[in-house]
Amino acid sequence: MADLGSARPRMIVDCDPGLDDAAALVVANHFADLVGITTVGGNAPLADVTANALLTTQVFGIDVEVYAGAERPLVADPRHAPEIHGEHGFDGPSLPELSRRVGDGHAVDYLVETIRSEEGLWLVPTGPLTNVALALRRAPDLVERLAGISFMGGSATVGNHTPVAEFNVLVDPEAAAIVLDAGGRILMAGLDLTHQFVVDDELARRLRDVGTAGAVMLADLVVAYLDQVEAVRGRRRGGLHDPCAVLAITHAELVAHVQRHVAVELSGAITRGMTVVDQRPGPGVDDPGGNVWHGHTLDGAGALTSLLAAVAAHG
Ligand code: RIB
Ligand code: CA
Repeated sequence: MADLGSARPRMIVDCDPGLDDAAALVVANHFADLVGITTVGGNAPLADVTANALLTTQVFGIDVEVYAGAERPLVADPRHAPEIHGEHGFDGPSLPELSRRVGDGHAVDYLVETIRSEEGLWLVPTGPLTNVALALRRAPDLVERLAGISFMGGSATVGNHTPVAEFNVLVDPEAAAIVLDAGGRILMAGLDLTHQFVVDDELARRLRDVGTAGAVMLADLVVAYLDQVEAVRGRRRGGLHDPCAVLAITHAELVAHVQRHVAVELSGAITRGMTVVDQRPGPGVDDPGGNVWHGHTLDGAGALTSLLAAVAAHG
C-alpha cells in the first residue's frame, strides 16, 4: 500500500460512541492530531452518541469540539444496537455528570468547511457513513483534498447484525456505497480485521490496572459490553472494532492491507448491507481495479499495547 507518510497524521473522527468508538477517540487523541469529532446516529440515537462523545472528551481531557450530524440514514429506517451497547450507548457503568457542550452547527457543514480549509486530513468514520456521504455528495472535491478515508465497517467474511452484513454498513448501505464509489484512498477495517483486536475480560483487567478515571470507565464499559454480548451471543468475547480504523493510519505496521474491489449490496432481500469484497486476485495480490485497501491482518498484541499506552497517558 502507498506510503502513509511519517508526519503525525491529522484527522477527524466521525463516530457513534459506544465503547469501541470511545477507544478510537482516545487512540486518535494520543497518536494523531485529532482536529475534530462528529457524531452520527448509530449504536444509539444521535443525542445519546453525541453525549457519549462529549463525555469521552471530558473524561480523557480531549480538547476537541464535537459536532452532531445525521440523526437517521439517507434512505433506510433508523436502526440502533441497544442489545449490544444499551439503549443510550454507554449503558452499564455509573458515569460522571456531563459538563461539555456540543459545538454549534451541523457535522456535515463542519466536515465540508474543515476539509476545504486544510489539505491532507484523514477522515475516520467509525459509525454509519451518513455524514460522510452527505458531505461528499455536497462537495465531491473533498475526496481529493483528504489524505484518505479510513473507516470501520463491512466485512470480507461474516456479518454481525445479519449473517452477511456489518452494523455500520447495514444501518446506511446507500451512504456506504456513495463513500466506496467516491474515489481517493479508502482503507477498510472490516469485521474480519477487527475481530483480531480481542475484547474480553482480560482487556477489562488490563484497563482497570491502569487505574485512571478514564481507564476505569473504559473497563466498566468493556464489562457491560461483554455482559450484553454474552446474553445475546453466548460468549464473553468480541472485537474492539473502531480503534483499528485509527491504528491503520497511526500504526501502519500493525495492519496489512491488500487492494480489492468492494461493493455494497443494496437490494438483496437477505443480503442488503453486505460488502462484497472481490478476493479473486488471490491472497496478497493487489487488484489494480480495486477501490479499497482492505485490511486483512492485524497485530492484535501491538494494537492492545497502543491502546493501553494511549489510555494511560490521558484521563
Ligand atoms: O459492527 C461494529 C461497528 O458497529 C462498530 O463501529 C460499533 O461501534 C458499531 O457502531
Ligand atoms: Ca462505532
